[in-house]
Amino acid sequence: MNNFNPQRICFMFAMHAEAAPLIEKYSLEEVADFFAPLPPKLFKGSHNGKEIFAVLNGQQNGLDLVGCEPATLTTQLVISKINPDLIVNAGTCGAFKANGSEIGDVYLSKAPINFHDRRVGDSGGWYEMGVGFYPCIDATEIAKDLGFKTGHCTTGSSLDMADEDLALIKKNGGELKDMEAAAIAWVASLYNTPLMCVKSVTDLCDGGRATEEEFHENLSLASNNVKDACIKIMDYFLK
Ligand code: ADE
Repeated sequence: MNNFNPQRICFMFAMHAEAAPLIEKYSLEEVADFFAPLPPKLFKGSHNGKEIFAVLNGQQNGLDLVGCEPATLTTQLVISKINPDLIVNAGTCGAFKANGSEIGDVYLSKAPINFHDRRVGDSGGWYEMGVGFYPCIDATEIAKDLGFKTGHCTTGSSLDMADEDLALIKKNGGELKDMEAAAIAWVASLYNTPLMCVKSVTDLCDGGRATEEEFHENLSLASNNVKDACIKIMDYFLK
């Protein structure tokens, strides 16, 4: 990791609220219609000689396009049209009190990154195909240097959690529950594009609160923490 020196860093976000603090911090400017007619949005700028890109999945009907399908489309576009040296999937996640997680905690991803709602069979490799087991860069040293925790991202298409999802999360050691990381990791793995996820906790899946309510209550705190983390990560790569 020490000699990994990305020059073109692309932060990928699902929600505008998650991206806004970083766009403001680096005065990133929107490149109008870069992905037209598709919904993703590109903001770009530079910092100490490094190119910084922030890409959002975009909106439809006034709502942010969260989830795996928009994330897959956006990642394909990002790699084919921008070809960054590093993708940082930045956003929020649910986590588990039982693992010691607290609201606002910031985590960097550990490999593997999995899906927890793709149940396509248990034999002939279908289980592995469904779950994914995708790579990401080893962020152990970065996390240690910057004071972040590390955890396994586990991705599904729902904010809530069915019993079957929890069973797969437990079976595969999932710690950070989100709706995009594995979709991004799949496309990044096809191109061998280095990926790191930085996630801040908005809700505790085993905390007894209604997820949607807790998520909205903590979205701005977690988004700010993600922004601070992204700045620290940029500074880390500027060293
Ligand atoms: N993003 C933030 N919290 C989440 C959760 N509990 N599940 C999926 N995605 C999330």
